[in-house]
Amino acid sequence: QKRYSITLLPGDGIGPEVISVAKDVLKLTGSLEGIEFNFQEMPMGGSALDLVGVPLPDETLAAAKNSDAVLLGAIGGYKWDNNAKHLKPETGLLQIREGLKVFANLRPATVLPQLVEASTLKREVAEGVDVMVVRELTGGIYFGKPRGFRTDENGEEVGFNTEVYAAYEIDRIARVAFETARKRQGRLCSVDKANVLEASMLWRRRVTAIAEEYPDVELSHMYVDNAAMQLVRNPKQFDTIVTNNIFGDILSDEASMITGSIGMLPSASLGSSGPGLFEPIHGSAPDIAGQDKANPLATILSAAMLLKYGLEEEDAARRIENAVLDTLNKGLRTGDIYSTGTKLVGCKEMGEAVLRSVDSQVHAA
Ligand code: NAD
Ligand code: IPM
Ligand code: MN
Repeated sequence: QKRYSITLLPGDGIGPEVISVAKDVLKLTGSLEGIEFNFQEMPMGGSALDLVGVPLPDETLAAAKNSDAVLLGAIGGYKWDNNAKHLKPETGLLQIREGLKVFANLRPATVLPQLVEASTLKREVAEGVDVMVVRELTGGIYFGKPRGFRTDENGEEVGFNTEVYAAYEIDRIARVAFETARKRQGRLCSVDKANVLEASMLWRRRVTAIAEEYPDVELSHMYVDNAAMQLVRNPKQFDTIVTNNIFGDILSDEASMITGSIGMLPSASLGSSGPGLFEPIHGSAPDIAGQDKANPLATILSAAMLLKYGLEEEDAARRIENAVLDTLNKGLRTGDIYSTGTKLVGCKEMGEAVLRSVDSQVHAA
């Protein structure tokens, strides 16, 4: 019997709804695969602010660091939107990414055959799309200094941030991306704004240098504005994309829509050692929170990534992935992926259906 400790961070909005479902899926999968999970739920984001006054309590970060993997729902909400920066839920999220040193964020956008109808793109454009976005997660403009507010010489209020990358930060994310591409179709597209930004000029130079270590991977470069356009023009041209923190944030939301919904996209955030952080790419969706409307599949698939990338439990991961496909084959859909002829269900019912499918998989194929 293998044992793992998992820190659960439900967070805010739909976070607790999707985490509750994903936890049940992990538990059942574990019991069928000879794995015992020891779950510890900790506060973070807005709920931590309300409880103890900070978005990432020390105890939460310590628990996360001491566990084998961390599964996060989502954080944020209108209530805290006007808080000072250090008292924002989002700051807690950046702190835990930084605290766990998870610099590499893998965001797979796969168009499942069952969901082609849910894509906003035409069938022939969407069908078969399988893009892995490798997003740098602990650097760039999100963390760069100087940053802040000041008053300029005309008495005008100014807000400012700094896009900054050190060579070692680019080198290590580039290596993760080349390794990732090597296991896929062997094509890596590095996305930057090297025609304008110095941080991108260095990015392109370093990625090109690291490519020497990976002669089997075909490297191309693209400016981010063109990449945003190409993603909706012909997404099948992409295999693996590597990009900085902010471009990766934006392009992965865009890529998610090709797959039918942002409610489908999971992610894995990994460092060079220590526990990984696994979370859906979507936010706390305050517009649908508390209504049992959230699509839990992005979080369930994040739990599968936790098993695969965090614990190297590939059979268990595959069991969950197959259960998701099986559930979609049965025609169940939450509102965000609904199309005519399918059955509209809520978050809980979708979760229960996935549980049944996890259970009914005699052999994890
Ligand atoms: P969002 O991703 O929360 O929602 C965008 C839209 O997608 C909304 O219409 C929402 O209803 C829908 N949506 C998102 N997830 C869904 C799901 N699982 N099922 C069905 N529909 C879903 O982005 P936003 O509205 O820009 O941000 C809301 C809050 O979430 C903000 O406070 C933001 O800072 C925060 N946020 C947190 C994370 C995170 O925790 N990782 C990520 C993004 C945004
Ligand atoms: C995400 C979110 C976060 C980000 C925010 C909430 C800080 O959009 O996880 O994609 O920008 O990284
Ligand atoms: Mn985002």
